[in-house]
Amino acid sequence: MDNLLVTGGAGFIGSNFTRYWLKNRPQDRVVVLDALTYAGNLASLSAVQENKKYRFVHGNICDQSLVESLIRTENINKIIHFAAESHVDRSILGPDAFIETNVIGTHVLLKVAKKIWLDEKSIGARHRFHHVSTDEVYGSLGAEDPPFTENTPYRPNSPYAASKAASDHLVRAYHHTYGLPTTISNCSNNYGPYQFPEKLIPLVLLNILHEKALPVYGEGKNIRDWLYVEDHCRGIEVVLDKGMVGETYNIGGKNEWENIKIVKLLCRLMDEKRQETNFNVQKKNSERLIAFVKDRPGHDFRYAIDAVKIENQLGFKPEETFETGIRKTIAWYLENSAWWRNIMDGSYQEWIALQYKNSYVSIK
Ligand code: NAD
Ligand code: TYD
Repeated sequence: MDNLLVTGGAGFIGSNFTRYWLKNRPQDRVVVLDALTYAGNLASLSAVQENKKYRFVHGNICDQSLVESLIRTENINKIIHFAAESHVDRSILGPDAFIETNVIGTHVLLKVAKKIWLDEKSIGARHRFHHVSTDEVYGSLGAEDPPFTENTPYRPNSPYAASKAASDHLVRAYHHTYGLPTTISNCSNNYGPYQFPEKLIPLVLLNILHEKALPVYGEGKNIRDWLYVEDHCRGIEVVLDKGMVGETYNIGGKNEWENIKIVKLLCRLMDEKRQETNFNVQKKNSERLIAFVKDRPGHDFRYAIDAVKIENQLGFKPEETFETGIRKTIAWYLENSAWWRNIMDGSYQEWIALQYKNSYVSIK
C-alpha cells in the first residue's frame, strides 16, 4: 500500500490522475495538495470526494511547513508532482508566478522529501518523487527534424518552458547529488475531460458552442503532438511501477497535428454532433467562426515526442486513438456544461479581457 501526495490534483491532469488512481488502486491513499488557483477546481474532484482513501488539502507547495507536516502526518511515501502554472500565454504576460510555483515550489517539495525520507529516514520504504513535466523543455522542432528523445538538449523558449526546464534540472540534481529516488516524465500536449478552456481544444469546443470566434494564432501551421489525458495518467503509472530511479521518460502518442487542422476537425465533429442531437442545427458550418489572429510571441513551431524508450523498456503504449479520444472529449464537454459554466464567469473573463487589452488576441 502507498500513500500518495498528488500536488496540483485539482487541475486538469492531476484531477484525471487522482480519479484514475483511486479507481485502479483502491488500496492506496491519495492526498491532494492544491492552491486552487484560477486553474484549480474542486468540482473536478467531486467524483472522489466521498472516497475514504482521498483527502483534499487547500495549500501552496511553496509553504514548506505545510508540506512537511503533511508528509509526516499522512506518512507519504510517493509524491506525484503536477502543481504548476501551465499556460504559455499567461507566462508571456506574467512570468513571476511561473518562477514561484514551478521553480521555487518544486524545490520546496524536493527539500522536504530529502529531509524526511533520506536525512531522517522517518517514513518507511518505496519512496518516489515523480515529477510531471513537458516536451516544451526541448524547444522547437523544424518540419523535418526527428522527434524529441530523452537525450535531446534542453532549449526552452517560453517563460513557462524555462520554468519547467529549471524544475526538471533540480529534480535531476536531487537524484544525482543526494540520491533522492526521482523519476521525470516529459509529455506532449494533453487533451480530454476537465481541461481549462484557455487551452486550444476546450477553447475551440466552447467557442463553437457559444458561436464565438475561434482564434488561430498566426497561420495555424504550428504543430503539436496530442495525447489523451488518461493515457498520460497510465504512462505515469507505468513509470511509477516499473521506471528506473533517476531516469526520464518521454510520453507521447505519435499524433502530430497542425493547429488549423485540429480546429477544422473540431468544427466538423461539432457540426456532426449538432445533426445527431438536433441541437442548434441551423448553426452549421462552424468553420466560418475561424479567425486568424496575431501570433503568440516566440511561438514554438513544432513539438513531437519519440516515445520508444517507455515503449521498449516499460511496455507502455497509449490505448486511445485520436479519433476515439476526441469524440470522448466532445461528449464530455457537451454533457458537463455545469462544470464549464462555473469557470466561464469570473476569472476566466478577466483573462480574456487581459488578452484583448494587450491586443494579444485581436478579435472581438
Ligand atoms: P493545470 O493548470 O490545469 O493545473 C495546475 C494545478 O496546480 C491547478 O489545480 C492549480 O490550482 C495548482 N497549483 C498551481 N500553483 C500551485 C501552487 N503554488 N501550489 C499548489 N497548487 C498549485 O495544469 P495541467 O494541464 O493539469 O498540468 C499539470 C502538470 O502537467 C504541469 O506540471 C504541466 O507542466 C504538466 N504538463 C501539462 C501538459 C498539458 O498539455 N496540459 C503536457 C505535459 C505536461
Ligand atoms: P495550447 O493549448 O496553449 O498549448 P501549448 O502552447 O502549450 O502547446 O496551444 C496549442 C497550440 O494552439 C499552440 O500552437 C498555440 C495554438 N493556439 C491557438 O492557435 N489559438 C488559441 O486560442 C490557443 C489557446 C492556442
